[in-house]
Amino acid sequence: MSRPAVRALAPYVAGTSIEEVRRRFGHARIVKLASNENPLGSSPLALAALRSADRLNLYLDDAHEALRERLGQREGLQAENVVLGHGSNEIVNTIAQTFLDPGDEVVMADPTFSLYRLAVSLVGALPVEVPLLDGVHDIERMLAAVGPRTKAFFVCDPNNPTATVLPAFAWDYLLERLPPDVLLVIDRAYAEYLDTPGFEVASVVLGRGNVVVLRTMSKAYGLASLRFGYAYGDRESIDWLQRVRLPFNVSRPAALGAAAALDDRAFLEKSIALNAVERSRVIGELRERGFHCYPSGANFYAVTVPISAHEAYEALLERGIIVRSGDALRMPGRLRVTVGTNEENDAFLAALAGATIGDRA
Ligand SMILES: Cc1ncc(COP(=O)(O)O)c(C=O)c1O
Repeated sequence: MSRPAVRALAPYVAGTSIEEVRRRFGHARIVKLASNENPLGSSPLALAALRSADRLNLYLDDAHEALRERLGQREGLQAENVVLGHGSNEIVNTIAQTFLDPGDEVVMADPTFSLYRLAVSLVGALPVEVPLLDGVHDIERMLAAVGPRTKAFFVCDPNNPTATVLPAFAWDYLLERLPPDVLLVIDRAYAEYLDTPGFEVASVVLGRGNVVVLRTMSKAYGLASLRFGYAYGDRESIDWLQRVRLPFNVSRPAALGAAAALDDRAFLEKSIALNAVERSRVIGELRERGFHCYPSGANFYAVTVPISAHEAYEALLERGIIVRSGDALRMPGRLRVTVGTNEENDAFLAALAGATIGDRA
């Protein structure tokens, strides 16, 4: 029999796959806007590096010193301030295993990325969930929820599933008031899409300490399937995470692909530019149609629908469009939709009209 914490667990639910929709409806063309993936594919330089990955029979370079140094330099930090992961998901789990004891409390928003609740609960710690205010982290109420048992404080920025961003003054407010003994975890999976960062990573890492800033190459670099994430932190926090992470958690192909993707400025810039143009076009169009959309700082958006989120999700599936239902993300009444290519977004807009006001309207 498994542990009670495992039995109580509501498992992570990933977005619906293209294969599943094809099985159900038999569509030849399916548009997947469900998992915030890069619609332009992957960095070509990364793909070329992966094709030449060799010596897979060997356990090679578990320290990844050069890559960590490079990632560190991007923020004015050192290799010792960087830990790598099998996606940033893995680092969330490692944080829970490294820092949390049963009964410790962890303050986080609601809704936010569901993995935090899962990882925290699995080690017997207690998520303390504070509702968003107009779709944004309510930092004042989150700080008020910090008590003697609070061990960590999670901020997802931009927040999944709302795509909302904390303004710079809220970062200042938080950084001034969060007790120094509370580990601050900032998830910046969508950082590349932000117009303004809100805070400076190096000054928080070196000035405050007791902080872990999560990053991933799954989104803007188009490498979701490669599984490569990393985190910045003060030397002590990173040292603890290095002790706990699994040996060889980052494969050699993942490290080679990630290093090559970092060289691919052209792909990154193209991805960010497409997202900016399409995001403002689609959100503008949805608002014109009378749907409410939170401002988005990411490669997805959270939009209201006039029928239930689940009904809208199902009606879109029937039309070959995969999105996420807010019902499954603690965001009832809304869909979470990835920004796709121009053509994909048009297909979504047309299908949404059909799903909500009828195909002949
Ligand atoms: C907020 C947030 N953090 C982390 C992740 C996971 O990233 P990775 O693919 O690096 O595990 C996601 C993926 O959707 C996310 O939305």
